[in-house]
Amino acid sequence: MSGKIDPEALRNLSSGLYIVTSHFKNKTNGQIVNTVMQVAGDPPCVATSINKKNLTHDYITKSGMFAISVLAESTPMKFIGRFGFRSGRDIDKFDQVSHKKGVYNSPMITEHTLAVLEAKVRDQVDVVTHTVFIGEVVCSEFLREGRPLTYAWYHEELKGKSPKTAPTYMKP
Ligand SMILES: Cc1cc2nc3c(=O)[nH]c(=O)nc-3n(C[C@H](O)[C@H](O)[C@H](O)COP(=O)(O)O)c2cc1C
Repeated sequence: MSGKIDPEALRNLSSGLYIVTSHFKNKTNGQIVNTVMQVAGDPPCVATSINKKNLTHDYITKSGMFAISVLAESTPMKFIGRFGFRSGRDIDKFDQVSHKKGVYNSPMITEHTLAVLEAKVRDQVDVVTHTVFIGEVVCSEFLREGRPLTYAWYHEELKGKSPKTAPTYMKP
């Protein structure tokens, strides 16, 4: 080993694509993430890494809650762009997008979604530009059959890019 960081090695880490949503008072927001993983089973806990500059970060910190929508492989690029390349500071991302509420009132996107989970923040870890939120799942629902969207599909089939705020972004 030379001690060098080879971006190609990091690109081999596989993951799915999700929308993480949260709310503050009567305002709702959400963003695309590729960083969701289940980190415990009893009780079920999930983790996600959110950029400190994102509006979603602000809402999760304030409400102590977040929800996850598991996206389908058939999700169009336009929909991913709305949640992954625009900020809720500029547009209402929920406008004309199907959604419902969890038991703790978290907004959950149901369009292009196979399953939804709502989680209560149990802990958080500072990771330089991002915060990893660890949440205990308080409710979850399977909505429809389908193949979950993967990060590999997003790159290879949809020819998608990673914005600078994504934890996988590396300077070219
Ligand atoms: C494919 C993809 C993966 C992304 N993964 C993450 C992620 O894991 N964490 C993160 O903070 N941002 C990630 N982003 C970037 C956010 O979705 C983006 O910065 C969003 O505009 C933030 O919106 P907000 O300011 O309304 O919260 C990703 C974007 C894309 C397109």
